[in-house]
Amino acid sequence: MTSNANAFTNTVDPGNPLHIVPVSGRIGAEIRDISLSADLSDETAAAIRNALARHKVLFFRGQNHLDDAAQEGFAARLGEPMAHPAMPVVAGTSMLELNSADGVRANVWHTDLTGLVALPFASVLRGVVIPDVGGDTVFANTAVAYENLPEELRALADRLWVLHENTRAYEQDIAEYVRQNYLAKVMRAIHPLVHVHPETGERALLLGGQIEGFSKADSQRFTEILQSYVTRLENTVRWRWSTGDVVIWDNRATQHYAIDDYGDQKRVVRRVTLRGEPTVSVDGRRSREVPTVQEKATPAAA
Ligand SMILES: [Fe+2]
Repeated sequence: MTSNANAFTNTVDPGNPLHIVPVSGRIGAEIRDISLSADLSDETAAAIRNALARHKVLFFRGQNHLDDAAQEGFAARLGEPMAHPAMPVVAGTSMLELNSADGVRANVWHTDLTGLVALPFASVLRGVVIPDVGGDTVFANTAVAYENLPEELRALADRLWVLHENTRAYEQDIAEYVRQNYLAKVMRAIHPLVHVHPETGERALLLGGQIEGFSKADSQRFTEILQSYVTRLENTVRWRWSTGDVVIWDNRATQHYAIDDYGDQKRVVRRVTLRGEPTVSVDGRRSREVPTVQEKATPAAA
């Protein structure tokens, strides 16, 4: 189904018991009157998961009671927490700390950990130290971006596969901390460029790598065209953080960008990543691993 360029799609499901307030027309909703914890009822946890699939990003203000353990306990009600495959974890947890003091600034549009065959399902991020001004995060809806494509482009995109490597996204200026950890472990996976969301059945763009069968230059240019649909302002929502906010994004239907406009102010957020599954193409094929260069060079066993 094609949505019109000015469609309003981010409506509240009247059957959802949570107090949900959409933030923009196509993505993002604030959930009010809730205190997050590991002790939420099954009904509430299911309602949060349903709201996440529908709105793609959920914002919870004022969760200042949460510490690391409680954040992780809450996240475990939605999925299975997994340690970042390359970065150090916060002691005693599976959490990733993104600390401005380490020079970590994810100011590039991306989906998390696309180098994994099992694309993480979601991330649960808590604002620990937030600058007075700046450091917002912007999220984009990759499912509505797909719907916005002209039919001919969708038909082409549906057939393509993309090699994702963690070392590609940060080719230029990267912090030493990232170089030593994130880039020390190579993660490579081939995903369909368009994958079918396992809960909603929507098709979503999964960008950020080298398109199979295209030259590097053509891959870059075609990705730029698709990416321009993802980052149209109509398909995005921007969050102004406060300390104690919790933000959850559906990593299977979004990209995000951490705005690096806060100079030397301190900014610390902590993330629980929830394990996902291999992605599935529109014709039912699954994402797959890529043999390393070394493996490729090894002659096949007799
Ligand atoms: Fe990220």
